Amino acid sequence: MNDNNFKVTIHMVSSLDGFIATNDGSVSWMESKDEYPDGVTLSDEDMEQFLKSVDCYVMGSGTYLHALELGWPYGNTPVIVLSSKDLKSKKESVSFYSGDLEDFVHEKLKPNFQNVWMVGGAMLTKEFIRKNLADEILITIMPVLLGDGKLFFDYIGKEQRLHLKDTKVYKDGMVELCYELIK
Ligand SMILES: NC(=O)c1ccc[n+]([C@@H]2O[C@H](COP(=O)([O-])OP(=O)(O)OC[C@H]3O[C@@H](n4cnc5c(N)ncnc54)[C@H](OP(=O)(O)O)[C@@H]3O)[C@@H](O)[C@H]2O)c1
Repeated sequence: MNDNNFKVTIHMVSSLDGFIATNDGSVSWMESKDEYPDGVTLSDEDMEQFLKSVDCYVMGSGTYLHALELGWPYGNTPVIVLSSKDLKSKKESVSFYSGDLEDFVHEKLKPNFQNVWMVGGAMLTKEFIRKNLADEILITIMPVLLGDGKLFFDYIGKEQRLHLKDTKVYKDGMVELCYELIK
């Protein structure tokens, strides 16, 4: 597979004050009742096309366990869960990995996939950025201040230059920013 087409995108939904989860794990804040008439909406076809374009989802065990509770949004697309625990899944599309993240990206992801989405959580995102393993960050900002919870960027400990690639504003007040990580 051609390395040039391999891309790891970190995607996260965040409050304006930078939280990706509330302390009680509620997700009601991810549904916006706001209205922004000049914004766009995604059609079902857009959504379908996007979902088809993702080759593999990667996530930490915290995110995986939460997704199992909330309802599986990843269909049959391959999902790789990072965990040091002996987790098992009945879903054929789910596999587990433990170990060095650089080996994971270069030996497990790169030869097998092109469009990889790293969907959280905060702990794993921080490691991907620290180790230069992500190519893009797509952040969806909800029109809400949560005031407390789990921070998206929780002291990464290094400066990372970004290039703003794209922005989208939705009719329900969500703002999407897509940044390329400059290497
Ligand atoms: N707003 C959003 O878009 C969004 C997205 C995703 C998640 N979330 C929320 O964020 C929370 C979860 O985030 P989190 O930061 O607590 O956890 P997380 O990043 O999902 O998972 C952290 C876990 O991943 C495993 N891990 C990390 N690096 C590893 C490595 N190199 N090898 C093996 N295992 C590794 C460890 O699991 P073990 O302890 O099993 O070893 C670690 O405890 C949930 O509440 C979720 O709902 C929100």
